[in-house]
Amino acid sequence: MDLIQDLNWRYATKSYSNEKISEEKLDFITEAINLSASSCGLQPYRVLAIDNAELKEKLGANSFNKQIAHSSHLLVFAAYNKVTTQHIRNLVELTAEKQGVPTESLEGLFTTMDSYFSSRTDDQNKLWAEKQTYIALGTALIAAANVKVDATPMEGFDPELFDELLSLKEKNLHSVVILSLGYRDQENDFLADAPKVRIPVKDMVTRIS
Ligand SMILES: Cc1cc2nc3c(=O)[nH]c(=O)nc-3n(C[C@H](O)[C@H](O)[C@H](O)COP(=O)(O)O)c2cc1C
Repeated sequence: MDLIQDLNWRYATKSYSNEKISEEKLDFITEAINLSASSCGLQPYRVLAIDNAELKEKLGANSFNKQIAHSSHLLVFAAYNKVTTQHIRNLVELTAEKQGVPTESLEGLFTTMDSYFSSRTDDQNKLWAEKQTYIALGTALIAAANVKVDATPMEGFDPELFDELLSLKEKNLHSVVILSLGYRDQENDFLADAPKVRIPVKDMVTRIS
């Protein structure tokens, strides 16, 4: 039930105070992100956690979202441009290590996954990778609320500018969605006391027995 309180407490913060979030809270949120489910367990994205003021200012230059520059930290969720055989090999090796089994015993898993991703176009795999980032975004929103850190998910940013300033292309990545973290400016945020706007659960969920 506490989780429902956390989710009612959070909102897409428009205005932040100057207070920084602690390393401990940032670690908590990033660890939660890393525990997100992903299709095939491939985690086909990376997350950049930025608290450099100058860089955040530059990243926010073309956006109506002032939160990019005026928040404690900015998380950038960046998906793979291409899914490669090496990504699948790395996952199989990590699985073998974590589960204490020989890599050879997972050869069938490797072949199934590799032939699946190789049979699809790069664009199909790119779109698939982008969808996975949204699961991580959701986890981050919940984790932030759980430790009373305010957050704003944002698609309103210039992805080309982000990719360039963060040298993402060279890392086989592209920015998909971002999340600012910090503390609400209670006095100046017009949404700070606004009631949640959601359709009734019964209209959202159809129960079929
Ligand atoms: C994927 C995504 C993109 C969003 N982009 C923006 C944005 O660019 N700027 C912004 O202020 N809010 C953005 N929002 C916040 C939504 O407007 C907000 O979550 C929604 O109105 C529900 O309100 P609440 O989160 O405060 O409960 C985005 C939310 C999501 C999930």
